[in-house]
Amino acid sequence: MLLAGKKLLITGVLTPQSIAFAAARVAQEQGAEIVLTNFGRTVSLTQKTAKRLPDPPDVLELDVNAPEQIEAVRAELARRWGRLDGLLHAIAFAPQDALGGNFLATPWESVATAFRTSAYSLKELAVGMLPLMEDRGGSVVALDFDARVAWPIYDWMGVAKAGLEAITRYLARDLGPSGIRVNLVSAGPLRTMAGKGIPGFDAITESWARRAPLGWDVGDATPVAGAIAFLLSDLAAGITGELLHVDGGFHAMGTDLA
Ligand SMILES: NC(=O)c1ccc[n+]([C@@H]2O[C@H](COP(=O)([O-])OP(=O)(O)OC[C@H]3O[C@@H](n4cnc5c(N)ncnc54)[C@H](O)[C@@H]3O)[C@@H](O)[C@H]2O)c1
Repeated sequence: MLLAGKKLLITGVLTPQSIAFAAARVAQEQGAEIVLTNFGRTVSLTQKTAKRLPDPPDVLELDVNAPEQIEAVRAELARRWGRLDGLLHAIAFAPQDALGGNFLATPWESVATAFRTSAYSLKELAVGMLPLMEDRGGSVVALDFDARVAWPIYDWMGVAKAGLEAITRYLARDLGPSGIRVNLVSAGPLRTMAGKGIPGFDAITESWARRAPLGWDVGDATPVAGAIAFLLSDLAAGITGELLHVDGGFHAMGTDLA
């Protein structure tokens, strides 16, 4: 099994449609021991969703914007496991006025919220868990929506994702000497709470299916979860600072296929 004996922290499980839910399921199928986290009022929904995993894991509270909660999760994992082998950052949030075609009018406060929660938080989480990983090395994986290009409607979330891509490279630089790898999976569109929250989501998914040579199922995060499991595993030992597309091949095509 790919992740036998690995102890992993998985953020972002909200509903069974969450990308992190598929990642948690595949991680358990591959032998990992996992703990989930989510923030504030979402914890009870995460606990309900966790019961649908093969081996229902514990859920800890972690608002990624609250340094004291990152500290508390680190202390709890130190008590439980004494170490951490990897983590999945599956967290994003942008206020409504930062998405949906309002790019030129979005106020700084909304941009700042989107950036802090969706990009800067990767640095906060990785550094927070560093003491648990630096002795034996580890793997940090986060979720991207390809930010090398501009999209309709994605607006300041796209800018936050561009930041996330850069943060991944800088973390790879600074954590590599401790044996910690930092990579992104750039997923195609999936019908999750976060995905549905983007106005115009359906317009993007239609063109996706037309362009992706492998096709694309917006209801199935399993292919994304497979790539996450690979990056969390020792098979990816030589990979860091990478952006791995799991999008049916959409990113490699110049136009829609006939
Ligand atoms: N759905 C898509 O089409 C798609 C495509 C590419 C990348 N992604 C990315 O995948 C990741 C997971 O999103 P998803 O689509 O599975 O949706 P989701 O709504 O299931 O997950 C988003 C998670 O972020 C959590 N979150 C928000 N603010 C937080 C905070 N302050 N502290 C801790 N957690 C917080 C939510 O509680 C939720 O669990 C996000 O980074 C998203 O941008 C999604």
